[in-house]
Amino acid sequence: MKASRKLLLTGILFLFPALFFGGCESMDDAFDQNRKIRRGVNIIGYDQIWSSFEQARFKEKHFKLLKQARFDSVRINLHPFKHMDKNKNFALSSHWLEVLDWAITNALKNNLAVILDLHEFNAMGDDPKGTKKLFLAFWNQLAELYKDAPAEVIFEILNEPCRGITPKLWNDYMRQALAIIRQSNPNRTVVIGPAHWNGIDHLDELKLPRNDRNIIATIHYYKPMNFTHQGASWAEPYKDKIGIKWLGTDKEKQNILSDFTKAQAWSKKHKRPLLLGEFGVFDKAQMDSRTRYLNFITQSAERYGWSWAYWQFDNDFILYDIDNDKWNQHIRDALIP
Ligand code: BGC
Repeated sequence: MKASRKLLLTGILFLFPALFFGGCESMDDAFDQNRKIRRGVNIIGYDQIWSSFEQARFKEKHFKLLKQARFDSVRINLHPFKHMDKNKNFALSSHWLEVLDWAITNALKNNLAVILDLHEFNAMGDDPKGTKKLFLAFWNQLAELYKDAPAEVIFEILNEPCRGITPKLWNDYMRQALAIIRQSNPNRTVVIGPAHWNGIDHLDELKLPRNDRNIIATIHYYKPMNFTHQGASWAEPYKDKIGIKWLGTDKEKQNILSDFTKAQAWSKKHKRPLLLGEFGVFDKAQMDSRTRYLNFITQSAERYGWSWAYWQFDNDFILYDIDNDKWNQHIRDALIP
C-alpha cells in the first residue's frame, strides 16, 4: 500500500472508529445502562389507569416518592393486546398510548429509568401462533414511536416466555422482534430473558445474537416457591399452606447463592449484564421472614453488580399502600437499607 493511502486509512480509522466497528463508540454500553436501572420496581401492570385516568391508583406523585426513596428505575408491565385494533393493522388505542406516554414522561422527569416490559406472557404462552402477529405488530409500533426517546428508555421483549413458547420457539420469536426493533432503534438497550418464566436455571437455553451487544439479560427469582408464593391463589401447590418461614440459615442462603453464582458465571462467560427483573414474597408470609429474604436477595444481587426490580408497587406483594397512602416501610427498608 502506498504510504499516502496508508496514512489516509490510519486517519480515517482514528477519526471515525464507528465506521469500522459498527457504531459501537456511540452506543450506550449495556453494562452502563444496567447501572442506571440499578434498583427498580414493577409498576401499573394491573392498574385501572389503562381503562381510564379517573380510575388510576398510581398517580404522578408516586414517581417522585419512588425517587425520594432512592429507587432508580421503574419496570412498566404492559398488557397491550386487548387495546390493539385488528381492523386497523393492530393499531394501539389512543388512550393506551396516552397512558404510556404519561408514565414514561413522568418517570424520566423524576430521573427514573424506564423498562417497557411486554407482559403478555400468558396470552402468548397459551397461543404462540395466534398471538405472533400482535407481538410483532406491537414492537413495530412501539419501537417506531420511541425511537428518539433517551437511552434511559429500555425495551423488554417479553416477560416470562412460558408453556407454548418453548426455548426453541422463543429464540426464534425474540430474534424476530429484536430485528424489528433494531430497524428503528439501532442503539436502544433491549432486555431479554430465557424461556421457562425467565428461570435462573434456563440461561443456557437462551441464544442471544452474539454481535448485538446492547442487550441486558434478565432472570426472575422466586425460590423457594413454597415460601414466596404461600397463600397465593394462582400458585396451586402453595396456595393453601401458609406460615412458611425464611430464617436466613446457612442452608437457605446457600441455596440462593448457588443459583446466583451459576447465573453470574453465565453472565461472565457471555459478557452480558444481568437484571433480576422480578422477585418478591407474597403478602401472606410473615413480615420478619419477608424482609430477611428480600434484603438477602437485593444485597446478593448488588454484590454481583446486577440491577433489580421488585415485584411490585401495588396490587399484591405491595411495596406502597395506596389505600392508606403510605409505604410498606418494612419492605422498603429491606430492599434499600
Ligand atoms: C405475574 C404476576 C404474578 C407474579 C408473581 C408476574 O410475572 O405477572 O401475575 O403475581 O409474576 O407470581
